[in-house]
Amino acid sequence: MRILSGIQPSGQLHIGNYFGMMRPMISNMDRGELYAFIVNYHALTSVQNPANLTRDTLGAAADFLALGLDPERSVFWVQGDVPEVTELTWILSTVAPMGLIERCHSYKDKIAKGITASHGLFSYPVLMAADILLYQTDKVPVGKDQKQHIEVARDIAIKFNGMYGETFVVPEPMIDDNLATVPGLDGQKMSKSYGNTIAIFLEAKELKKRVMAIVTDCAPVEAVKNPDTCNLYNIYKLFAPVDRLKDVRDLYLNGGAAYGRIKLELVDLLWEYFRSARETREKLLAEPGQVREILKSGAAKAREKAAVTLAVVRERVGLRY
Ligand code: ADP
Ligand code: TRP
Repeated sequence: MRILSGIQPSGQLHIGNYFGMMRPMISNMDRGELYAFIVNYHALTSVQNPANLTRDTLGAAADFLALGLDPERSVFWVQGDVPEVTELTWILSTVAPMGLIERCHSYKDKIAKGITASHGLFSYPVLMAADILLYQTDKVPVGKDQKQHIEVARDIAIKFNGMYGETFVVPEPMIDDNLATVPGLDGQKMSKSYGNTIAIFLEAKELKKRVMAIVTDCAPVEAVKNPDTCNLYNIYKLFAPVDRLKDVRDLYLNGGAAYGRIKLELVDLLWEYFRSARETREKLLAEPGQVREILKSGAAKAREKAAVTLAVVRERVGLRY
């Protein structure tokens, strides 16, 4: 079984990225062949500052490695180092029905958030389908927000297979239904593009500032509160030990939950949770050459696989003569 997923280097990675995509990827390392990559072509749809893109590409790679992605047990690369994916994108875009892409809500959401509309932003799901189909992927671990994009990849694969003969594995999303979308500071989906994140690797002071900025209502400590609709609780529960979580839940339900205290506790929990990864990340960033080596060798492996699929695709559609 081939398991594949990508992440955009469009800013510091956050705890939503961790629970939605990075942790599922890392925990699936031995369940199949794991393909993980940093999608810098995709990031170009929103990041047009070259220095930031370069910095965040290396940063995202270091984050993933520090959090436990083992390059010996996976293929790990940067999307732009495998240019074959852009050729497949073009071929798939001639098959992808306009209406299918027009229905994608992430395009509309991004425009509503102020990202400039461009052809690349519109055809983002076709590039993503190419990412997935190029490597004959079985399973794609992602957060809920990416479900529609996986459906687009499936639809394109089915259509292509129907038109030109069996070519692509039809991929399936791997979404943990127990893990609702991680909320951001303001209670909306935590997202780099909404400025409401808690990045995984923050300086201690900045971490405290972000956690203290989690929006809560102004109910007094002794009031009875609903934990399930509380943004703070929904973040806290991802990190708290089971026993302590039960106690805090009781405080919400019976009165006595003090938001300020829970926030301070959350700061410590977050700091401890990522402590060892933070140390590993610092070492990796001190030797970026080593990270680049890992990525280059991953790209070479990915290109080999890509070439096999692309040769078949070229043949099927009649590009070989
Ligand atoms: P962002 O919205 O911050 O730019 P990406 O679109 O790069 O994040 O998402 C990378 C991966 O992380 C995807 O699989 C996505 O579903 C997942 N993800 C992003 N935000 C969240 C969240 N708030 N909760 C759960 N998963 C998330
Ligand atoms: N669109 C995904 C996101 O924003 C990133 C992505 C690009 C991806 N290509 C992919 C995810 C292929 C899974 C598989 O999160």
